[in-house]
Amino acid sequence: MSERRALVTGISGQDGSYLAELLLEKGYRVFGTVRRSSSDNLQRIQHLLREVELLHADLLDEQSLIAMLRRVRPHEVYNLAAQSYVPLSWEQPILTAEFNAVGVARLLEAIRFVDPTIRFYQASSSEMFGQAVEVPQNEDTPFRPRSPYGVAKTYGHYITVNYRESYGLFACSGILFNHESPRRGKEFVSRKITDGVARIKLGIASELRLGNLSARRDWGYAKDYVRAMWLMLQQDRPDDYVVATGEAHSVEDFARLAFAHVGLNWRNFVRVDPALFRPAEVDRLIGDATKARRELGWQPTVRFPELVALMVEADLEAVAAEARTRVEASRRP
Ligand code: NAP
Ligand code: GDD
Repeated sequence: MSERRALVTGISGQDGSYLAELLLEKGYRVFGTVRRSSSDNLQRIQHLLREVELLHADLLDEQSLIAMLRRVRPHEVYNLAAQSYVPLSWEQPILTAEFNAVGVARLLEAIRFVDPTIRFYQASSSEMFGQAVEVPQNEDTPFRPRSPYGVAKTYGHYITVNYRESYGLFACSGILFNHESPRRGKEFVSRKITDGVARIKLGIASELRLGNLSARRDWGYAKDYVRAMWLMLQQDRPDDYVVATGEAHSVEDFARLAFAHVGLNWRNFVRVDPALFRPAEVDRLIGDATKARRELGWQPTVRFPELVALMVEADLEAVAAEARTRVEASRRP
């Protein structure tokens, strides 16, 4: 069979790292875009650096996108690069729009210009549903975004649909609900909790400050979700799909389970910090992934309690390793 080439923007992120592993397993030649950084930000793909080919490109720079597509000539492009942290989008709404909205249009334009047969995946988000008008949310639920992040992602979604309808591009939008893993950034609530639990259990911290404990999310496992991205680009025709577990839990549920996993009571350690509340909250997200199950044959393999447990276990190991390194460094002359 001839060589299949896939290009992943945002390969250094949580999803990028799992998607790169999946694509390599499937025999693709995998390319990824990175932004130059003065310090190392490739920890999540350290183990893949011999297998993936990295290029410098930025969603802010149209020419860098065109040059990258000309050089790689990919069959599939997965656009995962984004400013992905919702609270920061209130502090940097313009930059968030440049990356998450106009950046998508730049990449689609580059594809149209270089090779319109490229198959395109856009990382859309359940945050677009915002203050959702129905529960659960599916592909037909109207969007009511409540953050500059959600607003920008909504543009990214619609421009993807628009390029499919206007130019016949094979462009898919995956409306993914929250998905987590031990590779999740520590600013997101799931990892903040599991990292905090590990530090408290190992005696390195004594409390964990959180914001709104009553917000509910549909949390799945990132490794399952990148499989859905790949499946979307293998179909006969392009379409949009909700990817979710169909179960929602509160932040409090997450904390309770994570502390219980190490034999602790969350109430003794969690402090609510009003400074961590958002200017506008998305209270309840629950996805209906019937279409993805029916058409893609996709389903999640990891349920909520298992997800919490695997993340706590991974952080117990990571925090213990970090502590050992600190001790060894302090002993060096
Ligand atoms: P993540 O860990 O924050 O990774 C984001 C990636 O984007 C990083 O590799 C980052 O590179 C890169 N990036 C940021 N700005 C860029 C720019 N201007 N040009 C090029 N690259 C840039 O996010 P994730 O959790 O893997 O999420 C992947 C995508 O799915 C994002 O678009 C996110 O918004 C979307 N999404 C995520 C979830 C979820 O629950 N995880 C749900 C729905 C949608 P650096 O390392 O250089 O910062
Ligand atoms: N980050 C954070 N930190 N969130 C907290 C905290 C805290 O200390 N305390 C409570 N929360 C609540 C937030 O108010 C929110 O309701 C919920 O926990 C989840 O927050 P995050 O983990 O930051 O995720 P998110 O839902 O805002 O966004 C994630 O999922 C989206 C999909 O719905 C990100 O991955 C987005 O990129 C993604 O699109």
